[in-house]
Amino acid sequence: MTIEIRPITAEIGAELTGIDLGRPLAAEAIATISRALHDHLVLVFRNQQMNEDEHIGFARQFGEIQPPPLKTHYDANPLLHVLDQTNPKGEGADNWHADHTYTAEPALGSVLRAVRVPSVGGDTAFASMYAAYEALSEPLRRMLDGLTAEHDVSRSARRGIRAGHLKADLSELQRRLPPVTHPVVRTHPVTRRKLLFVNSNSTTRIQELDEVESDMLLRFLFEHVKSPEFQMRHRWNDDAVVFLDNRCAQHYAVPDYHERRILHRVTIKGDRPF
Ligand code: SIN
Repeated sequence: MTIEIRPITAEIGAELTGIDLGRPLAAEAIATISRALHDHLVLVFRNQQMNEDEHIGFARQFGEIQPPPLKTHYDANPLLHVLDQTNPKGEGADNWHADHTYTAEPALGSVLRAVRVPSVGGDTAFASMYAAYEALSEPLRRMLDGLTAEHDVSRSARRGIRAGHLKADLSELQRRLPPVTHPVVRTHPVTRRKLLFVNSNSTTRIQELDEVESDMLLRFLFEHVKSPEFQMRHRWNDDAVVFLDNRCAQHYAVPDYHERRILHRVTIKGDRPF
C-alpha cells in the first residue's frame, strides 16, 4: 500500500493513510513520514490499534525516547506519559505551549495516541510557529532575531500540582530543572526555517529587555500565536495517533469536556535550539 498525504490546512497538518504504525516500518516509509513531518509539522493517523510497546516502538524509529521530565500519578511505564483528565480547565495543557521548553534540549516531537476520548469535545489545536514568525513585520522580526528568553518549569508545574495530577515537589523540581535560556527565534535544524520560540506555559522573561518591556512583548507574542490562520484543529477518535514536531508547532488542548479523556504521549529527544 502506498502512503497518501492529505494536507489539513495551508500552514499546518496532514492526514496520512495507507500505513500501519504498529509494525516496524521500512526505511522508505520512515523517510516519507519524516519528510511529511518537516513539510506539515503535525501528522494525523487514524485507526491505529497499538499497544504501549508498539507506540514506543513507532516513536523510537524517529529518535531516542525522552522519558517524561514531569511524572503524573498515572505514569507506570517510564517512557510513556499518561494524560488522564476529566475536568481539564486550568490544568496547563489549555494554554498554547510547546512541550518541555524548560529543559536545555526540548523535545524534537511527540507521538500522542488516543486511548479514550469524550463523546464530544477534547480536541487539540496546533499552530505553526513558522507562520507566526513570518506574519510579523520585518522590523519586529529583526528585533526578535537577536533576543533570548528564559524558560522556567515553575508555572506549568504549579498548575499540575494544584490540579492533583502531577507527582512532584515544586522545590525539588526547581532544583532539578533550573531555568534555561533559548533564542526567541530559533532555526529548525532540518528545514533551516526561522520560527517563533516563546510559549505561555514556560517563557518567563526576555533577557535583553527590562521587565516591563519584556512583559509587554511576551504578552503580545502569546496573543499573536493564537491567530486562527496559523492553526489546525484535530478531532480525536479512539486509536487516532498524532505525531507533532515540537520544535516548530505549539498546541492547545481544548478543555471543553467533563468525561474521562486519556491520551498516551511518547516524546522524542531534541537538541539545543539555535
Ligand atoms: C499535551 O501534550 O500538552 C496535551 C495534548 C492534549 O491533551 O491534547
